[in-house]
Amino acid sequence: MHTVDVSLGERSYAIEIGAGLESAGERIQGLGLGRKLALVTNPTVKELYAQRVSESLKAAGFQVMSIIVPDGEQHKTLDWANSIYTALLINNFDRKSPLVALGGGVIGDLTGFAAATFMRGVPFVQIPTTLLAMVDSSVGGKTGVNHPMGKNMIGAFYQPKKVLMDLSVLKSLPREELLSGMAEVIKYGIIRDPALFDYLEANREKILSLDNDALGFVVRRSCEIKADVVMQDEREAGLRAILNFGHTVGHAIETAENYTLRHGYAVAIGMVYAARLAHRMGLCDALVPERVERIVSSYGLPTGFSALGRRPSTTELMDTMQVDKKAESGKVKFVLPKRIGDVAVTPEWEEQALRDLLTA
Ligand SMILES: NC(=O)c1ccc[n+]([C@@H]2O[C@H](COP(=O)([O-])OP(=O)(O)OC[C@H]3O[C@@H](n4cnc5c(N)ncnc54)[C@H](O)[C@@H]3O)[C@@H](O)[C@H]2O)c1
Ligand SMILES: [Zn+2]
Repeated sequence: MHTVDVSLGERSYAIEIGAGLESAGERIQGLGLGRKLALVTNPTVKELYAQRVSESLKAAGFQVMSIIVPDGEQHKTLDWANSIYTALLINNFDRKSPLVALGGGVIGDLTGFAAATFMRGVPFVQIPTTLLAMVDSSVGGKTGVNHPMGKNMIGAFYQPKKVLMDLSVLKSLPREELLSGMAEVIKYGIIRDPALFDYLEANREKILSLDNDALGFVVRRSCEIKADVVMQDEREAGLRAILNFGHTVGHAIETAENYTLRHGYAVAIGMVYAARLAHRMGLCDALVPERVERIVSSYGLPTGFSALGRRPSTTELMDTMQVDKKAESGKVKFVLPKRIGDVAVTPEWEEQALRDLLTA
């Protein structure tokens, strides 16, 4: 088992990678949590893993109440947060009673938000069960729900007390969900770690066949990189923006496709365009977009619009980025690679060059 420490003063916590779900209970003992505990999950994950977790928690002396939220992004809402509050209140939960999120990013974000706000904050533990949740959403403390007018519009920074990752749960994950998570792993290589990028190039088959060592290594490196960035900039005053590499164009594509495209797929296309833009602007040599495109495609992820069966209009994409721009008071900052392993975050990017690339 590997531990990644997230050092944030009194909000510090450990990410434990590799131990089985059966040890969840003993691994959260000693955190000073209340005995009464709510396990929040969805029907899909409940069917597969809730019993193992629940038994382990009970064996460690916790009294477990399960809260089941329907599966799907459309349930990451204030209404469902409210249903969680209601269940906690009916069952006399208090300020020490922990919430445990067992599931992907949807369950993690929703449960984290409920934990951040119920009685002004109760302890929270994450047990991520998708690759995306392991390498991204469960690390860093962003929690939240969607509003009808926009994704993740309501939220809070709120760190968990611990994050527990059992890699074997990824065996039941649908292939597209695994690949979607891989897009974020590839992102970490490009923004911060050329050795990780090389490793991903050289070990694709092992990783995609869920070889325990290979998977353990990429999950751990991803968590270390994200944790390192978050430790330096918990609330996104600066550095944390590098995590948005591939997300500017990616988000515009997700919007154009009405969120029918998996997040990682949109980010994959976004990373390819960001790398091309960087080259067009003279920030990096031609090998960078070539390698980015090659790795994205080797992991079965889309590199362009042909995979969508439709090409969103360039104007539509640029307009969406414009809307994002307003939200950030005037300047959308683009994350552009200088080389594999290093990026620049800049408000000075060539809009026309991107237009040309998107239209080509
Ligand atoms: N907080 C953050 O920093 C952050 C970062 C990135 C993404 N997110 C959020 O994460 C969410 C996406 O997360 P996601 O990709 O994990 O999606 P998800 O939570 O919807 O999970 C994807 C699907 O996989 C199923 N599933 C989960 N674990 C499984 C398993 N082990 N075996 C079989 N099926 C399983 C789920 O039931 C679901 O149907 C979005 O809401 C996004 O906004 C948050
Ligand atoms: Zn992302």
